[in-house]
Amino acid sequence: MTHSNRIAIVTGASRGLGLVIARVLGNRGYSLVIGGRDRGTLEAAAANLSRHASVVRPVAGDVTDPAVRAALIEAAMALGGLDVLVNNASELGGIGPLQVFDVPRFGRLFPVNVGAPMVLTQLALPLLVERRGLIVNITSDAATAAYPGWGPYGATKAALEVLTRTLAAELRDRGVSAVLVDPGDMRTRMHQEAFPGEDISDRPLPEVTIPFWNWLFDQDPQAVRGERFAAQQEDARWLQQV
Ligand SMILES: NC(=O)c1ccc[n+]([C@@H]2O[C@H](COP(=O)([O-])OP(=O)(O)OC[C@H]3O[C@@H](n4cnc5c(N)ncnc54)[C@H](OP(=O)(O)O)[C@@H]3O)[C@@H](O)[C@H]2O)c1
Repeated sequence: MTHSNRIAIVTGASRGLGLVIARVLGNRGYSLVIGGRDRGTLEAAAANLSRHASVVRPVAGDVTDPAVRAALIEAAMALGGLDVLVNNASELGGIGPLQVFDVPRFGRLFPVNVGAPMVLTQLALPLLVERRGLIVNITSDAATAAYPGWGPYGATKAALEVLTRTLAAELRDRGVSAVLVDPGDMRTRMHQEAFPGEDISDRPLPEVTIPFWNWLFDQDPQAVRGERFAAQQEDARWLQQV
């Protein structure tokens, strides 16, 4: 059953890809719960998104903070439920060779990039089950390649990929679906952090992924369960929509 008041949580929606995904969902009639640490930036994003969505609830804070995760879920609950959970917030943790990689940074990256999406999924599950909802976990080509310097970040995304596929299989009987999306290189703050001081103006803005998102959110979540999509891939399924 499709509910008339569809609701989505998008973490890391204060800028970059997350803001674009939230805008797509808002334009499709979803009420939004959005996250990000910097309150000012998040509130500015919420003001911008209110031109696209009738309801936008910003929840400021770190996704590793249990109180913040609970507040994201409570905000969705207060709106009436949850159809889509987009685990987009992520950190790069610096680029550098593994031989000298600062071990405590591993300790930071895994809770942000892997632990938080998994705990948010656990918390969101009762709501998602009610609406046969969709979990979207944002991954990267760094999960499958072996780019020098990208080991720790890539390892978190590889872990996220295994866990997402496992979740998709485990949740089949409960009617909840999970997919992976590799958005491809995009001109965002994270990408600039990966290439400090370099001109990244040849990379496309995250808006390049909009045809994919419109296609994905048109699909029955059950029909895409467990798939891994490359949002910038030249794929007739979503490019025909432009
Ligand atoms: N850009 C690329 O080329 C590229 C390529 C492949 C995959 N990706 C993936 O795409 C997703 C979005 O990346 P992006 O490029 O749009 O990055 P971005 O511009 O740096 O945006 C990241 C967003 O996440 C939030 N965030 C970061 N750490 C957080 C934390 N610990 N708790 C809560 N919010 C947090 C940020 O806000 P605050 O800083 O205020 O918290 C911001 O809203 C990520 O999963 C990334 O791994 C990006």
